[in-house]
Amino acid sequence: MDFHKYEKIWLVFGILSLAIFLSIVGITAFGQGHTPAGGMDTIDPEKVNETAPFDNPGVRQIDKNTYEVAIVGMAFGYNPSNIKVPVGKEIIFTLTSTDVVHSFTIKDTKVNMMVVPGRITHKNYTFNKPGKYLVLCNEYCGTGHHFMSTEIEVYEP
Ligand code: CUA
Repeated sequence: MDFHKYEKIWLVFGILSLAIFLSIVGITAFGQGHTPAGGMDTIDPEKVNETAPFDNPGVRQIDKNTYEVAIVGMAFGYNPSNIKVPVGKEIIFTLTSTDVVHSFTIKDTKVNMMVVPGRITHKNYTFNKPGKYLVLCNEYCGTGHHFMSTEIEVYEP
């Protein structure tokens, strides 16, 4: 095979650019200790219902100003489906999935979590306004994906 001189130059340029780019991404990821969003905690996806805190999902108070909400995502819903949390307190959302990848996305907030089988993801959030917040799954997870939603009620304690 015979390459034109310019073709060779562009091939070398392209391959070198790719190698440099991937090296920069790789080195900074290791150097800065990047982890998957939401943390590195793992769980046996077949034993979710026996593993704390998912053996008893729901809202639990940790201290005066902190609450944890353990939620299990599955096709096509969230357990528990009725979540009530107080306004102005730190809420730690803790999620996992029993089947495929879902998301836990609270509309009009910065909460947009991946819900991954085999992993436990965390996200802290404080609601500043009481009311009802729509939660959606934004990862395509099957034929019922568009039905996968719930609501969080944020109340004045
Ligand atoms: Cu769950 Cu889409």
